[in-house]
Amino acid sequence: MPQTIDGRGPQRGFAARPASARAGLGAPAPQAGAPPRRRWLSSYRISAWVVVVYTQLVILWGAYVRAAGAGNGCGPNWPLCDGQFLPHAPKLKMFIEFFHRVSSGLDGVLILVLWAGAMWLYPRRHRVRRAATAALGFVGIEALLGAALVLFGWVGMNASPARVTADAAHLVNTMLLLAAVLLTALWASGVEHPAAGGPPKRRWLLGAGAAAILATAVCGVMVALADTLYPSTSLIAGMRLDLSHAAPMLDRLRAIHPAVAILTGLLLIWIVTEAPAQQRLHKTLGYAVFAAVLVQWTAGATDMLLLTPVAMQILHLLGADLVWMALIAYAAAELADAPAKATSGSAVVGDATA
Ligand code: HEM
Repeated sequence: MPQTIDGRGPQRGFAARPASARAGLGAPAPQAGAPPRRRWLSSYRISAWVVVVYTQLVILWGAYVRAAGAGNGCGPNWPLCDGQFLPHAPKLKMFIEFFHRVSSGLDGVLILVLWAGAMWLYPRRHRVRRAATAALGFVGIEALLGAALVLFGWVGMNASPARVTADAAHLVNTMLLLAAVLLTALWASGVEHPAAGGPPKRRWLLGAGAAAILATAVCGVMVALADTLYPSTSLIAGMRLDLSHAAPMLDRLRAIHPAVAILTGLLLIWIVTEAPAQQRLHKTLGYAVFAAVLVQWTAGATDMLLLTPVAMQILHLLGADLVWMALIAYAAAELADAPAKATSGSAVVGDATA
């Protein structure tokens, strides 16, 4: 029989669960006098949410590095900055790039600690361990992609197809990383593991929604790059250039992103309105997806009308990440094992299905 981390048997039945868990989220709070490991669960949960927020901030600063054309601020050196471990009196672009390296390095360390915590607190094959391991993998890939951008010179005004591909891979990886840390936090907070059964149609739809967001984001990266490399002086001049055959390929792709984004948003709205909400958390997250899409459409249109000022670019990327995280959380809540079948929302020693 699976055992909870405090050595007692699992709670059975929906009514046996605390109100927070019945809402779909929230592992039972550790009790006074509980064994040492169990007491760490609540700190782990809080730390996981802090890492989600911190990772998001690092990603936004990364977008600022691109928008400010500071990707080559440290010269063609990695991991050293301009040949130095700690640059003396750095110029603005060097500072922007150096700060990104330091903050993303710290994110790597935090994710490593999160992973070590999951290994210590949760049993083998537990969902929190799996999500934290995925996060560790994605943060490693992120560092390698960042190093490749610098060492191959895919920064600044470089407009090569290799740079476009590397930028797109970088963005997709940041979104997968966000999904992994978010799932670590959600599952550590008591959202149940995905059920084995369930209607396959909904699984396909949720997968299609996630793929559509990633495709929209990849088109968005190309627009963002086109805006950095070929800034337009006015909306009309920009549109004329986009439609002209003389314009570079990247520039001509600009019109595709809003169209793809509208279709993706409609798909997401359909996904969350099509299914009856199963519990309070699922319903709330459905509203969150809906609202995030509307806000993101508005932010995208404003971004375009204002000729993509840096602040709007950052806000628009934040909007894309919020749409993504809302869908991931919504899917996790929908696919969570039915509460009546579930054991405890917290760590379950020996729970092989977790
Ligand atoms: C579901 C909706 C949308 C998503 C997920 C999305 C996602 C993205 C992403 C990830 C980027 C790249 C950001 C970066 O690398 O810094 C981007 C750029 C851009 N998007 Fe969207 N977008 C959406 C809707 C729209 C709409 C409706 C418009 C216009 C009507 C639009 C206009 C732009 C423009 C002009 C850029 C380039 C400037 C920038 O980087 O902000 N987007 N988008």
